[in-house]
Amino acid sequence: MARLASQAKAGFFPTPDIVVSLLKTKISFEKDARALDPCCGYGNTLSRLASPDTITYGVELDHQRATKAKSQLFKAVWGDALTEARVSTQSFGLLYLNPPYDTAINPDDNSDRRLEHQFLRTYIRTLQIGGILVLVIPYYVLKACAKTLARNFKVQVTGFPDEEFSIFKQCVVFGEKSYISEEKAKATQEHLEELAGMTPEEFQSEVWPLETMAPIVIPKADRPVNFRIDRLDPLEAIPVINKAGILQDVLQELIPTKNNNIRPLTSLENGHLALMLAGGYMNGAILKDGRQLVIKGVIKKIEKIVQVHENETGGGSITTKDQYIPTVKVIDMQTAELITVQ
Ligand SMILES: C[S@@+](CC[C@H](N)C(=O)[O-])C[C@H]1O[C@@H](n2cnc3c(N)ncnc32)[C@H](O)[C@@H]1O
Repeated sequence: MARLASQAKAGFFPTPDIVVSLLKTKISFEKDARALDPCCGYGNTLSRLASPDTITYGVELDHQRATKAKSQLFKAVWGDALTEARVSTQSFGLLYLNPPYDTAINPDDNSDRRLEHQFLRTYIRTLQIGGILVLVIPYYVLKACAKTLARNFKVQVTGFPDEEFSIFKQCVVFGEKSYISEEKAKATQEHLEELAGMTPEEFQSEVWPLETMAPIVIPKADRPVNFRIDRLDPLEAIPVINKAGILQDVLQELIPTKNNNIRPLTSLENGHLALMLAGGYMNGAILKDGRQLVIKGVIKKIEKIVQVHENETGGGSITTKDQYIPTVKVIDMQTAELITVQ
């Protein structure tokens, strides 16, 4: 998760404005067509591309971006599009994919795998036959994606405008999802691998610029859509909990029933305060710097093995020591952030 989170921060390379504007001139939508962006960022690119009656869906790993995307798209969810999103097959006319440009470690053999290909492979099935893939990736990643693209799509590769290309060396791949013959797939794969092996200059002069792309119409999908995520978004959950009245019950449980108005004999050191917090003497809801916080202190006892003595007959003894671990948990009731101090 730590790796995913850092990738989410670092991997935010939104489609450049000029590229979105060019795409907009090339792509139009049948009425009520559905479009999906599994790495939607703030949702800006998809919402700009869509027509007013396009039904837009997005997934985003970064919470702040996902929250903004919710206001821009018909439906956006916060979570990991590779493991947590549940999206029905063949229910989208457009798959817009500008995934993080990175590698992930394959746990089976520790080899590196391109994340762009993982997203492509995972989301191909969401496109209906005749549906359109728009894939924005660094051109050299065509090598990792060549086989999958060639087997599932009629493909056309176009170049970024030179100035934008100079930064991440991206291209735009358009693919129409189709049944492809073995022979055709093999030829396309070879062509894509060849493009991926070129120098950036060779690549840019080999492919047609985006401007020359023929216009595309995104079809309306016939199949019903199912789109949800396994992760609970606290910003959505808190109002529901509030409405259901459960929050009051939880707070009631946390607020101590006995009067803890203690008056110490001498002034307290930080250590004393920490122990009182952990001991539950300060449990309850407080308002601090405008934040509503709920505090709960817990002291957990664990048994630590300090010595193991085994004699020749197989018997022996184990010496243990009790250890007390003071923990203070604080919940910020506005953001649902949980802070644990141990
Ligand atoms: C290259 S940006 C693309 C943003 C937008 N689609 C665009 O083209 O302007 C990739 C986005 O994918 C998000 N992301 C990275 N890993 C993800 C994952 N596993 N699931 C969902 N989103 C992810 C990043 O946080 C980032 O916002």
